[in-house]
Amino acid sequence: MVIPTSMPVVDEEMEKEMLRALREEFFVGGKSVEKFEEEFAEYIGTDYAVAVSSGTDALVIALRCLGIKSKVITTPMTFVATAESIVLAGAKPKFADIEASTWNISSEEIEKAIDKDVETIMPVHLYGLPCEMKEIMDIAEDKGLHVIEDCAQAHGAEYKGRKVGSIGEIGCFSFYSTKNMTVAGNGGMITTNDKKVAEVAKLLREHGGSNFAEYIGYNARMNTVNAAFGRVQLKRVDEWNMKRRRIAKLYHEYLKNLEKIKLPALDERHVYHLFVIEAENRNKLREYLRSKEIFCGIHYPVAIHKLKPYEKYAEREYPNAEHHAETCLSLPIYPTLKEEELKMVCNEIKAFYGE
Ligand SMILES: Cc1ncc(COP(=O)(O)O)c(C=O)c1O
Repeated sequence: MVIPTSMPVVDEEMEKEMLRALREEFFVGGKSVEKFEEEFAEYIGTDYAVAVSSGTDALVIALRCLGIKSKVITTPMTFVATAESIVLAGAKPKFADIEASTWNISSEEIEKAIDKDVETIMPVHLYGLPCEMKEIMDIAEDKGLHVIEDCAQAHGAEYKGRKVGSIGEIGCFSFYSTKNMTVAGNGGMITTNDKKVAEVAKLLREHGGSNFAEYIGYNARMNTVNAAFGRVQLKRVDEWNMKRRRIAKLYHEYLKNLEKIKLPALDERHVYHLFVIEAENRNKLREYLRSKEIFCGIHYPVAIHKLKPYEKYAEREYPNAEHHAETCLSLPIYPTLKEEELKMVCNEIKAFYGE
């Protein structure tokens, strides 16, 4: 039996909705996109949501909406698109190390990283766990900085009663196939309470205003069938997140006594986009599991500041991010993962460590 790291859910209603949109609507934009935006804004708890063609586009457009050209503090332990979007928008990433306990960006390190050129903080709710947003928003307010949340991995995650994506000035989501909800392809969403940001984002996603361009923009519109599919996924995401939390609990039960690995926090706020452990002898463990047809990911094998195009932005060492990159392993997690399958994964991990 093959057990993948992640697996999207596709059901009949999603297929039907896609086909309906294909037959009845336009191929790009249209009613399904508008409805998806309204429903997503309501779900997140913001006044506006603007659909775009990827999470990366959401981040680039968010930065452009705020006119960010200087430095943006972010984590070196994230998918490369976070730092990439900063450079693509014409600004510079400035890294702040992660906490060793949660693997999210550390507020203390953010404070240390602030200099006169820093304009913005871009926290990433890594693996689905919300960052300490109260601390981050307090720092931002105190220093007059913008906050753009990278919520690509955290659809539906809540922090102190608010959904991520509604706490900073702008939230950016990805609907890439492996995410907690998808649009059957690439897609993204920008959430905000700022009317002006929503208006500019709509212009930027469509060549800066198309034939009446006010900006140099992008072709970053969402396809109609993707939105139709995403609307049905949105109805399911809370239930799937509950299933992911249950799977995380089961992993904790089965793996709790294993000293060779460190488990992620069990936290009700977490939506477990990924279930990431730190493991001794990580590469060998991954190979062993692969030989048993259990596929694990590494998110991420190299901290961003160690990647060639980003080396120049490293102003110091980021030891927690580097340690995590060397030891992290993403175990299979998806809503349809069965307890017997999870048990098999855990038994093989125990077998590998001779327990
Ligand atoms: C943290 C993070 N930021 C940004 C992105 C970019 O999203 P996309 O792949 O939809 O462009 C992703 C996912 O791919 C991500 O995981």
